[in-house]
Amino acid sequence: MQKGIVLLLLHVFCDTVLAGQCEKVWVTVSSLWRPIAACDKVVDAELEINWEFDCPADTKYSDTQIKVFTADPLAAHNKMIKPELILTSLQRPRGYYRTNITVGRPPLPGGWDTKDGAALPGPHCLDYYAILYKDGHIFSMACLQIWPTWMYDMRREIGMLPIGSLMIPGTHNSGCYKHGDLTRRDAFQRYLLTQDRDVWTQLVHGIRYLDIRVGYYPSIPNGTALDEEGNHVSRFWVNHDVIRITPLSEILKDVRNFLDAARGEVVIMDFHRFPVGFEGRPNRHRKLIAILHREFEKLILKPDRGVEGLGPTLNDIWTGGKRLIICYGDKHVVNDYDWLWPPLTQVWGNQQTVEGLFEYLDEEILRSKRRKNSQNPLWAVMAELTPFPLDIFFNLSGGLRQMADSVNRNLTVKFQEEWWKETNIVATDFFLGNDLIWVSRMSNIKKSNIAQWRL
Ligand SMILES: *[C@@H]1O[C@H](CO)[C@@H](O)[C@H](O)[C@H]1NC(C)=O
Ligand SMILES: *[C@@H]1O[C@H](CO)[C@@H](O)[C@H](O)[C@H]1NC(C)=O
Ligand SMILES: *[C@@H]1O[C@H](CO)[C@@H](O)[C@H](O)[C@H]1NC(C)=O
Ligand SMILES: *[C@@H]1O[C@H](CO)[C@@H](O)[C@H](O)[C@H]1NC(C)=O
Repeated sequence: MQKGIVLLLLHVFCDTVLAGQCEKVWVTVSSLWRPIAACDKVVDAELEINWEFDCPADTKYSDTQIKVFTADPLAAHNKMIKPELILTSLQRPRGYYRTNITVGRPPLPGGWDTKDGAALPGPHCLDYYAILYKDGHIFSMACLQIWPTWMYDMRREIGMLPIGSLMIPGTHNSGCYKHGDLTRRDAFQRYLLTQDRDVWTQLVHGIRYLDIRVGYYPSIPNGTALDEEGNHVSRFWVNHDVIRITPLSEILKDVRNFLDAARGEVVIMDFHRFPVGFEGRPNRHRKLIAILHREFEKLILKPDRGVEGLGPTLNDIWTGGKRLIICYGDKHVVNDYDWLWPPLTQVWGNQQTVEGLFEYLDEEILRSKRRKNSQNPLWAVMAELTPFPLDIFFNLSGGLRQMADSVNRNLTVKFQEEWWKETNIVATDFFLGNDLIWVSRMSNIKKSNIAQWRL
């Protein structure tokens, strides 16, 4: 009981005080994979431990270490638990360690593993913990966390912020994932998959922006199911460019279930491009839009530029009760429907190197103020590398997993230290490899402090 309270206090402590504190430990999940010898399987989703010491040199403590646990070390029944791993001689001012502890795809805690709506609000830890000790005292603690209801949990702090000024974590090509364990064959599909969690899991972790590209396939054998209005739902797929990856219906179902289970959360679906089957076919757009309308009717928030062109505040949205924003990347189609939001600007650099991407983002994020006269109050930073077509052919960049690994850690640092102020949406590949959900929540608290100060 008491341990429970201590843990709760620690969480509160970690989330509020540590935002301004100079030491931080956090856990991420690697996007990399390794083959297992003599077997078709691969190991992926391994735990990474990250730390940062930003304090003035502190000689008071002689011994600093991080202990890694695969169960809650502060729970009463785990008193005797031994760490899986102890990290010493920690690199300064920051560093990381990729463990060989496989996270895989564990069940989600707090009742969030099933989509039946019987889930507990607030943050929940998965069974991966890292604790920073100095001379045996706990200084910082983190777990691999889901934050399924973060917007409404933070309503007192962030309710008065317009949606266009919030920092909102998102995913790039959100529907490009595969269910179940990877095999070597999948691992070779290195340029197709951008995520390793399905959309439900993304939303439960705290992602609120989904980047979706849709393809239409008239003659897929399974495409015979009709909905009540005679639309072929199963002819619509989520694509990575010209390759279809996941049936669109799967993603719509996940979003619908999530909105029903988390009744204060706002989700943005960005139907950004239509790479296959839509060119010169307005009727197919109409079919897709009919499906969206039927699926989400009562939840769709109409476009609203709000005061200062930053969109409605979260409080406005909660008052109206409509929590789904659908942006549509075709400006002619948008004109025919008063509930579709205009095409959303994605700041996408087509960059192949870490240095190139960061230089590009440095410039673009600072330019964001000039974007205020856009029709859509929302805009997104696409914070991932893009391979050259020839690199894919010759396999020079080693795949999207490697590319995500080479930027994800730096993204955490840059957004936490500089870019948070100007950023609205930030979309990444293999989002568990960065800490941008945490950074977004902390940034929104800082943004609300600045906003209150101005009043
Ligand atoms: C994991 O790494 C530790 C050292 O950190 C090593 O002792 C252990 O054998 C490794 N386990 C596997 C399964 O590779
Ligand atoms: C089509 O349906 C068959 C049988 O129901 C199933 O085994 C197969 O995986 C489906 N294919 C696709 C692409 O969904
Ligand atoms: C990325 O992070 C590493 C390690 O902190 C650093 O050495 C490197 O300069 C960073 N790269 C960029 C482009 O910020
Ligand atoms: C692609 O590159 C990666 C790493 O650079 C290498 O491990 C892999 O074997 C290559 N794949 C192919 C099909 O050449």
